[in-house]
Amino acid sequence: MKLTLPCCARPLSGAVEVPGDKSLAHRAMLFASLAEGESEVRNYPDSGVTRAMRGALESLGVPSSLEAGVLRVKGNGFRPFPNAGATGYCGNSATTIRLMAGAVAGTGSSATLDGSAGLRRRPMNRVADPLRAMGAEIATDDGRAPLVFSAAGRLKPVDYAVPVASAQVLSCLQIAALGASGASRFTVPGPVRDHTARMLGSMGAEISSEGFVSTVRPLARPLRSLHATLPGDISSATFLFAAAALVPGSRITVTGIGVNPTRTGILDVLESMGAVVSRANARDEMGEPVADVTVAAAPLKAVEIKGDLVVRSIDEFPAIAAVAAFAEGVTVVREAKELRYKESDRIAAIVTQLRALGAEVDEFDDGFAVHGGTLTGGTAQANGDHRLAMSMALCGLRAPVSVEGAEILNESFPSFVPSLVALGVPEVC
Ligand code: S3P
Repeated sequence: MKLTLPCCARPLSGAVEVPGDKSLAHRAMLFASLAEGESEVRNYPDSGVTRAMRGALESLGVPSSLEAGVLRVKGNGFRPFPNAGATGYCGNSATTIRLMAGAVAGTGSSATLDGSAGLRRRPMNRVADPLRAMGAEIATDDGRAPLVFSAAGRLKPVDYAVPVASAQVLSCLQIAALGASGASRFTVPGPVRDHTARMLGSMGAEISSEGFVSTVRPLARPLRSLHATLPGDISSATFLFAAAALVPGSRITVTGIGVNPTRTGILDVLESMGAVVSRANARDEMGEPVADVTVAAAPLKAVEIKGDLVVRSIDEFPAIAAVAAFAEGVTVVREAKELRYKESDRIAAIVTQLRALGAEVDEFDDGFAVHGGTLTGGTAQANGDHRLAMSMALCGLRAPVSVEGAEILNESFPSFVPSLVALGVPEVC
């Protein structure tokens, strides 16, 4: 599918919702399957990546139903998955395969976890190595999927320093540690998203965090089933906020999104670029902070992004790059090498696609620099990356731009175009 957003002269305005948070949805589905009893989770998003987690669990013997946004799962408990030796197909979803790896190892299940060609390119030793140190038996294809788990005895507790600031790795290990024979300690090098500790904690697990160190005790009693409503996904809202920042005079609100501080880097970045960001109606869902967030356009200036802010905005760099292309000055992103291991090598992909649109961009090993005001227009490729597709399409609001392969956006935000239309973008083709 080729997507062309029209250059938008009229300001965008209004309030919309976005689908439920994917990170929370993955965890809700997986943890519900590890709990006792029936869980019910509302505002559950139906997209490529969330279907991956449900499908993989169904193959391993834990089916679920999703009707009108309500997910229902009858938990199997924290014990081996019913379909011993089955393959769980994780599609394009790295969160699915890495979190499932923790559950398969922790419950002592035998199973294979596999995925798409894109997923098979992503590094899996970051979870396989520490799981092996806990006693799991895992074969990989040279550190990549498929991951083949043989049923092993009870895992051993570990004290492990996670070398990358990755929530997927930390979550995998925290889940596995619920099945270990003693308390484990994990240290991360930065502020990774903490949804796993919050959600498992709300289900009765004992996970305590102090700074960047978390201690996980083995389950003393079954996990309680989950009854919750997922907040909207700030990573999807990001594309609407970026649209508001890009179209002069705009002011839009996305209601009911998760504003966990480990995820709100994008709001800080947009604010420091000049956009006006405000929050209202603050509340709490399952121990997660939720709010209505409004972004208003203002003249955009370049920023420098590095350190913790990179981790707190890890999924939002394609959108940040699109906004930076229309800011005054040179936006520089450093200390962001992890972007090379996402749905695509996002540093190379951002640089290549912005250049295809005429922009001046520099590539570094650990980041990139976008020279604002140089993008003229053209055709970009989505590169099999949903976030790149939506971000490059947004450049179309300010210059003649089309994106080929844009159907990949259905992996995460199928209502992207209807949401933009609801906010005032005309004649999308
Ligand atoms: C996620 C963690 C991040 C993020 C991904 C979702 C999660 O990955 O990029 O989209 O739900 O835990 P890393 O943990 O690999 O940084």
